[in-house]
Amino acid sequence: MAKDKVRVTDLVRMKAEGTPITMLTAYDYPFARIFDQAGVDVLLVGDSLGMAVQGADSTLPVTLSEILYHARMVVRARRRALVVGDLPFLSYQVSIEQALRNAGRLIKDGGAEAVKLEGGTTMAETIRRLVDVDIPVMGHIGLTPQSVHRMGGHRVQGRRSGKDPGCRERLLEDAAAVEQAGAFAIVLEGIPVDLASEITAKAAIPTIGIGAGPACDGQVLVMHDMLGLTESFMPRFAKHYANLWHDASAAATSYIREVRERAFPAPEHCYGVKGG
Ligand code: KIV
Repeated sequence: MAKDKVRVTDLVRMKAEGTPITMLTAYDYPFARIFDQAGVDVLLVGDSLGMAVQGADSTLPVTLSEILYHARMVVRARRRALVVGDLPFLSYQVSIEQALRNAGRLIKDGGAEAVKLEGGTTMAETIRRLVDVDIPVMGHIGLTPQSVHRMGGHRVQGRRSGKDPGCRERLLEDAAAVEQAGAFAIVLEGIPVDLASEITAKAAIPTIGIGAGPACDGQVLVMHDMLGLTESFMPRFAKHYANLWHDASAAATSYIREVRERAFPAPEHCYGVKGG
């Protein structure tokens, strides 16, 4: 393990120092290795794998076994980053006992060092009980993809005033409840910049934003959005730092052409021929 291994306690220190926290999702060994070597602080084995990797139209079908399968690959690749495992839909909402068992499995069998779960005030007791048994919890409020049906789609939250789920004052209460319950950090997804800024200023724990603007203490992107590994849809909040879809497509096209033209394999790719 690297000397400067990132621990949950480092994230709170980074907020206090004003050092931005970097987080990316990862689902397999090679990309986790690349991101860890590049120096990302947190690797999230997110249930976004349902959409990014499995081609589903929401995160709802993802199972705990699938998160565990991917978490093990990411943990094998990790030297420095903190690995957070996501609790998928209905793996923690049924009862506190269920949450304890499944969060425990992400730590014990998956090798994650912390878990993430969606929800604010309604999840506070669950967070408290996980923290009581020393399972570090990252909260997640705002546009919570597991609430896609209640929200009427993947919609920006916190635009309306009020105390109903997804409304501005409710999200302020949700953030406070998650912090008071003992979470070490909180993801703010899909909320207006001024609301994210207010939550960040009030919270002693770091906020990590996705579609929540620059005032957050850190930022997270789904790796496929960051690398341009998506066929067409590009959410407004994401930025492509590469265009891997295009590059992979061009590589596959060249390979197919060279095989059809018998240009590949060339002598240098063969055994038992001169130079092979
Ligand atoms: O599942 C996920 O990848 C997430 C991030 C988008 C925060 O929850």
